[in-house]
Amino acid sequence: MKFFVDTANVDDIRDLEATGLLDGVTTNPSLIHKSGRDFMEVTREIASIVDGPVSAETVALDHETMLQEGLKLAKIADNIAVKVPLTVDGLKTCKALRSDGIMVNVTLCFSSSQALLAAKAGASFISPFVGRHDDVSFDGMDLIADIRTIYDNYDFETEILVASVRHPVHITQAALIGADVMTAPPAVIHKLFKHPLTDNGLAAFLKDWEATGQTIL
Ligand code: G3P
Repeated sequence: MKFFVDTANVDDIRDLEATGLLDGVTTNPSLIHKSGRDFMEVTREIASIVDGPVSAETVALDHETMLQEGLKLAKIADNIAVKVPLTVDGLKTCKALRSDGIMVNVTLCFSSSQALLAAKAGASFISPFVGRHDDVSFDGMDLIADIRTIYDNYDFETEILVASVRHPVHITQAALIGADVMTAPPAVIHKLFKHPLTDNGLAAFLKDWEATGQTIL
């Protein structure tokens, strides 16, 4: 499963890129606002930090304007994936951008029927929002499982990009279902490394090693 980080904070992106475990980045208008930076400039910098896909979101609602925005965003770098909303105009734009060979991430997906439409529109990625589903008492991971079944039934190439990830269990559940990608905030990714028994075991090993009085180097 590919790991994308969901942020426009370049320091956090550089930090995770250094682990060698980062496969891409997703941003959205709220994350750009949070960064306090110029959209085009920060997106250009992010695309230079990672080799993998960097999602940059359009903000128009009509197809014609959304398409112009998408074409402009795609010119920032070869690894830009243009993000469009799961609307009629968004899927029209998806189809047009894909016909130009531009990566498209269809976002704000909340149903398997929406995901089916996105695959028919040729989306490179579909972003179902699991956390926001959980927030209204629906199990977001059931949505991921349904999309996985539908996509496998018809050999759709669209990659399932699990978004709105709130904790490590979302990530392991997504991997168990067979999602292609997950995107999570930096803090959630860092939680994946942590386990108290690892910390305790390491401390015990080092305590006993110190007692040997030896060094390796
Ligand atoms: O990429 C979509 C993600 O940023 C949304 O997450 O936590 O705002 O639902 P959240």
